[in-house]
Amino acid sequence: MAKTLSPVAVTFSTQKGAMKPAKLPLNDVRTKFRIMQQEPNAPAVTPALPDGLRIVKAEEYKEAALCLAQAFAEDDVARYFIDVPDREHWSEEEKWALHVEILEYVTYAHILKGLVTTIGDNYEGVALWMPPGQNMDDFLTILRSGMWRLNYRLSAEGKRRFFTEFLPLLHDTKHATLGERDDDSWYLVYIGTKPGARGKGYCRKLIEHVTKQADREGRAVYLESSNKKNPPIYKRFGFETTRTVHLQRSEKNVELDIMVREPAAVAQEKK
Ligand SMILES: CC(C)(COP(=O)(O)OP(=O)(O)OC[C@H]1O[C@@H](n2cnc3c(N)ncnc32)[C@H](O)[C@@H]1OP(=O)(O)O)[C@@H](O)C(=O)NCCC(=O)NCCS
Repeated sequence: MAKTLSPVAVTFSTQKGAMKPAKLPLNDVRTKFRIMQQEPNAPAVTPALPDGLRIVKAEEYKEAALCLAQAFAEDDVARYFIDVPDREHWSEEEKWALHVEILEYVTYAHILKGLVTTIGDNYEGVALWMPPGQNMDDFLTILRSGMWRLNYRLSAEGKRRFFTEFLPLLHDTKHATLGERDDDSWYLVYIGTKPGARGKGYCRKLIEHVTKQADREGRAVYLESSNKKNPPIYKRFGFETTRTVHLQRSEKNVELDIMVREPAAVAQEKK
C-alpha cells in the first residue's frame, strides 16, 4: 500500500551537480519511490567518444554509482554527511548503504541532465559531468533521480551539513570563481576509478574526453578536489588550483581544492 508523506517542502539549494534552490511539495509523493526508466536528455554537446569510453545509460546507473562509491569509500567529503554524531549508532553496513544510495541519486540525475561516462569492462572508471548551461535543479530531475529522498535519509546533522553548508558553499564558490562563465563551463562533478583499476590511464581518458571538447569550444573546465592527493594529478591535465574552501561542521578540517582548467589557447596566452 502506498504511503503518503506529511505535507512538507524539501528545499534544494545546491551546487554539487549544479542544482539551485527548488521547492518540492511532497504531499502526494509515494515513499516507495521507483526511479522512472526514461530516456535521459542528451547533453548540449556530446564530445566524440575515444576508444574504450562509453556513455552510461539509465539502466546502468547502479553499476556506475557503485564504482564511484568504491572510489570514494574513504573520501572525507563523501563521508561528511554520513559520519555524523547523530548517526554514531549506525553500523558500517548501514552507512555504506546510504553512501551508495546517495551516489545512485547523483549518478541518475547526471544521466538525466548531464553526461556520465565509463571505461573498463566492469565500470572500472566513471565520470559525472555537467555540460555548460545545464543543471539538475528542476523539479522533475529531483523527483526522478530520487534526490528528494535525501531529506529523509540523512540525519538532522547530515541535512544541516549537506543542504545548509556543503551545497551553498559549492554553489557560491563556483559562482565566485567562474563569474560570468559559471553557466558557460564544463563541470567535472565526480570522477573515480575502482581501487584495483588505478594507474591504468582510465582517469586521463575520462578527463581528456571532455577537456579536448572544452578546448575546441574555448571553454573552461571546473572541479572541486576532495583529496590532497589529487591536485597534482589534475595539474597534469592543465587544471590549476584557484582557491581552497573548508567544511567546518566536523571536528576534522575538510578541505576542497577548487581547480579550473582554462581552454588550451587561453592557457597558452597566459604563459
Ligand atoms: C584520482 C583518480 C580518479 C585517478 O585515477 P587513475 O585512473 O588511477 O588515474 P590515471 O591512471 O589516469 O593517471 C592519471 C595521471 O595521474 C598520475 N597519477 C596517478 N596517480 C597518482 C598519484 N598517486 N600521484 C601522482 N600522480 C599520479 C598518473 O601518472 C597519470 O599521469 P600521466 O598520464 O601523465 O602518466 C583515482 O585515484 C581515484 O578514483 N581516487 C579516489 C576518488 C577521488 O579522489 N576522485 C577525485 C575526486 S576530486
